[in-house]
Amino acid sequence: MSDKNKKSLAVITGGASGIGLSTVKRFLNEGYEVLILDANKEAGEVSLNNLKSDTCNVNFLHCDITNHSQIDAIFEDLHAKNCPAHVLVNCAGISPALNPLHQYSVEEWHRTIAINLHGTFYACREFLKLATALKINEGSIVNVASIMGVRASAAQAPYAASKHAVVGLTKSIAQDYATMNIRANAIGPGVIDTPMNTELMKDDNIMQYMLQRIPMKRVATSDEVANLIYFLASSEASYITGSYYPIDGGYLAS
Ligand SMILES: NC(=O)c1ccc[n+]([C@@H]2O[C@H](COP(=O)([O-])OP(=O)(O)OC[C@H]3O[C@@H](n4cnc5c(N)ncnc54)[C@H](O)[C@@H]3O)[C@@H](O)[C@H]2O)c1
Repeated sequence: MSDKNKKSLAVITGGASGIGLSTVKRFLNEGYEVLILDANKEAGEVSLNNLKSDTCNVNFLHCDITNHSQIDAIFEDLHAKNCPAHVLVNCAGISPALNPLHQYSVEEWHRTIAINLHGTFYACREFLKLATALKINEGSIVNVASIMGVRASAAQAPYAASKHAVVGLTKSIAQDYATMNIRANAIGPGVIDTPMNTELMKDDNIMQYMLQRIPMKRVATSDEVANLIYFLASSEASYITGSYYPIDGGYLAS
């Protein structure tokens, strides 16, 4: 999909900030058209204006991925315009405050699962409906899970539950669409320097504790994560599907 389909469309949820925004920039640099879906209208519009000074291949739609009718309408519009999307990257996500399970409210549990899991499902479902309807012969989904997609640490039950489920969802999609040449992979970022971690990274004690556990003794940039996402989405990864790739400075291996 990298060279011959230079004007392929990549839909990127959570593309207004952090890993999503770096991913948007990477796909634009590779010649893709990019559609950003994000619930943060202000950040989305600021990002769009900044990006538009370099390219007109990018668009932003204000969209809450927990609202499936909003996602449906966006993909139905692409269908009506006979506009296939070849790549879907699901970056939209939240990380709730750390708490032991009994201190989480029911609302916080549902909100985490609604954004991290249900939103990812809605976007995958509509992307795959469009892909099937327009009979694309090559496509790729990259779901941004976490290292908490395969292990857990204290006080992160809803986040870990949602990210484990995203890994399972991704593996399942890979089975269902392999013969259509639509691949699905999940990635597991460790600690990444994004707005999600701004507060956490100000806390020296927490940072020291975390860095001790990361063999590379540093956090990653969002651009480093975007490199992995782009690789998995591109035809360079044409035989990779149903996999989970940590990007964690060696954390899971230690
Ligand atoms: N930063 C990390 O250390 C880290 C580690 C592991 C996994 N992740 C995952 O990476 C993804 C991106 O995180 P980030 O660090 O770039 O965070 P971020 O907060 O910078 O970006 C997340 C984006 O998702 C959007 N979003 C949130 N809820 C939404 C909704 N309901 N509908 C649409 N958009 C919504 C936000 O507006 C924001 O633009 C998340 O899924 C997160 O769980 C991050």
